[in-house]
Amino acid sequence: MSVENMVAIGSDHAGLDFKLIIRDQLIRLGFQFIDAGVPEGTERIDYPIVAAEVSQLIQNGSAHYGVLVCGTGIGMSMAANRFRNVRAANCSNEAMARLARAHNDANILTLGQRLLGPDLALSILEVFLSTPFEGGRHQGRLSLFN
Ligand code: RB5
Repeated sequence: MSVENMVAIGSDHAGLDFKLIIRDQLIRLGFQFIDAGVPEGTERIDYPIVAAEVSQLIQNGSAHYGVLVCGTGIGMSMAANRFRNVRAANCSNEAMARLARAHNDANILTLGQRLLGPDLALSILEVFLSTPFEGGRHQGRLSLFN
């Protein structure tokens, strides 16, 4: 299995239910996952800790994409975007997921479990994972980042 098919996933306590359905969906879609998860029995975990774990898996090449879930997706995206070469996008609909990949080459999707229904979250995930980066003028813009 190539790294291209490897997705690092993680959530805080407010995103745990979505993380579990995302795990199942990744398997159905033919992806593998690394779960940067909360150890069994952990009641609460602060989202920056999990965002850092998943971001480092992207940085070191262990995973091609990441998915991070918290209550809103906002904290996870803020924390992940502190890491060089991580481009995390908080998406609340399929159009955002498509454009985050096509124009921004986002490599981490963040989702808000308190704001989205599970069907919409899985649909956003599928669009994110199946949309290629368009490159071209968008690549030039990304190269201005760091
Ligand atoms: C946890 O209560 C909540 O603040 C967190 O999951 C997230 O929504 C932060 O952005």
